[in-house]
Amino acid sequence: MVKRVFSGVQPSGVLTIGNYLGAIRNFVKLQHEADCIFCVVDLHALTVPQDPKELHDATLDVARLFVACGIDPERATIFVQSHVAAHAELSWLLECNSYFGELRRMTQFKDKSAKNEVVTAGLFTYPVLMAADILLYQTDQVPVGEDQKQHLELARDIAIRVNSRFGQTFKVPEPYIPPRSAGGRIMSLVNPEEKMSKSSDDPKSYIALLDPPDVVRKKIRSAVTDSGREVKYDEVNKAAISNLLVIYSLCSGQPIEEIEKKYGDSGYGQFKKDLAEIIIETLEPIQKRFEELCKPGVIEEILQRGRDRVEALAAPTLEDFRRKLGLVQR
Ligand code: AMP
Ligand code: TRP
Repeated sequence: MVKRVFSGVQPSGVLTIGNYLGAIRNFVKLQHEADCIFCVVDLHALTVPQDPKELHDATLDVARLFVACGIDPERATIFVQSHVAAHAELSWLLECNSYFGELRRMTQFKDKSAKNEVVTAGLFTYPVLMAADILLYQTDQVPVGEDQKQHLELARDIAIRVNSRFGQTFKVPEPYIPPRSAGGRIMSLVNPEEKMSKSSDDPKSYIALLDPPDVVRKKIRSAVTDSGREVKYDEVNKAAISNLLVIYSLCSGQPIEEIEKKYGDSGYGQFKKDLAEIIIETLEPIQKRFEELCKPGVIEEILQRGRDRVEALAAPTLEDFRRKLGLVQR
């Protein structure tokens, strides 16, 4: 049996090179070996205040970027979370099998609720909706960045709990998380202690997938570096340079050791100059394809087909769980 892979990306703001290197790049690889479903999780984006027009446009743009990054809609399925009502429905059913205490321990909730003035109930139950996304499709594997590890563990705990209470209902999903040196956690360009995030107020902290070449050059030029002048991978003592090395290595396909040798202790200047050009080369084909996908109707048609396929996949699992819970058949 081919494996089922599921992952989601929020349409909140722009996508960054962190999203690409930590997650989407692996989606592209996995589509050749598994039955892949990739979702634009618009309901998750609603957990914090959104401008309606921006949310609408960002949802279509994330789907376009999936395709522009190399996901082939003939091979993998792409759809919008809110188009399939089963996600919200299963989320409620799972909420009633999740505990306040376990949700309160989620570090992303703690961080986001400390930062945001508005703390919605949705922000609190967000990881249960994510569990619903995954469990609805009997998913084997979930490719995500390191920041989603705790949420995935919760999804597994919920699946195991439901299975032991009601009998085999959901497959228990496995995480697929790259190590840091392979992009699992790309850090901010202004503060290497924080992950690169599209929701940052400082655009200099991230490279967006649609940043034009000049903007990439400027951002890399102003990226913080560490003391000394040696280009060397050392997460503890040289966090900033290590992060730039990971980006360089993943974008160029060259192993980190080779890049270290190439620049040695000749200083950071040339290294950063070359890095900017390598990022620009990586983004160029993505940006070109993105533009073609902006023609009216193109992405909408792909999303419609995706929705039709996943609705049929989701129905039996949801019906089975409803029946096990004692809900009267509809
Ligand atoms: P999000 O933008 O939060 O919906 O994240 C989409 C995917 O990108 C998830 O799998 C995240 O784990 C991953 N991701 C987001 N930011 C980073 C980062 N800085 N480094 C690595 N992966 C990331
Ligand atoms: N919470 C994830 C993030 O912010 C997005 C997400 C929602 C997701 N549902 C998912 C990821 C299901 C993997 C599987 O990155």
